Amino acid sequence: MTLTLAFDIYGTLIDTRGVETTLTGMVGSDAAAVSRTWRDKQLEYAFRRGLMGRYQPFSECTRQALDFALAFHQHSLQADQRQQLLDCYQHLPAFTDALPALHSLQAEGYQLWAFSNGQATAVDTLLVNAGLRDCFAGIVSVDDVHSFKPDPKVYAHFLARTNAEAATTWLVSSNPFDVIGARSAGWQAAWIQRSAAVVFDPWELAPSQTLSALTELAAALKR
Ligand code: LAC
Repeated sequence: MTLTLAFDIYGTLIDTRGVETTLTGMVGSDAAAVSRTWRDKQLEYAFRRGLMGRYQPFSECTRQALDFALAFHQHSLQADQRQQLLDCYQHLPAFTDALPALHSLQAEGYQLWAFSNGQATAVDTLLVNAGLRDCFAGIVSVDDVHSFKPDPKVYAHFLARTNAEAATTWLVSSNPFDVIGARSAGWQAAWIQRSAAVVFDPWELAPSQTLSALTELAAALKR
């Protein structure tokens, strides 16, 4: 049976907390809190825009969420500093398990796809900079359908673009809302629970597999 593997990008292969080093130079000890608010608001804005039918690219959600996070934590930065932080989003680091895991899945013969809220050009640059781009057959972005995860439309779009079937497609994601979105669309989904402290939403849809690192995936797919 041929499986199609769709990898979430931000938070799964790529560590969004990579902004904290640059943030520390600007907001000091608030860096972790600002980073957390920034990421939470970025996703909330994407959810809300999807629901409201007011699509803007994910980079715009990211920009507006940064402005919110800075205001919320009472930091005012110059335009060039804010731009520097947004530029970090193209240079975020890969999690250390990403490259070895992708290589072992490639060696098993799986076709790997990047599947993201980010626009394809942004995801392409990010993956090149993180040294992961060559592992993927291609990038599927929600931008093609002007909505965001977990809108069922974006999971259907992925299947159409890659000529895959829901039942033999696996989403690999650290983001519970994304795992639930994929399971709701009839896919299999591996939740990468990087820390025991992260709680999965207690909905009626559970992950097909829960793993603590991407490097466990190749073995899990054989079970
Ligand atoms: C992505 C967001 C959900 O890469 O992190 O799609």
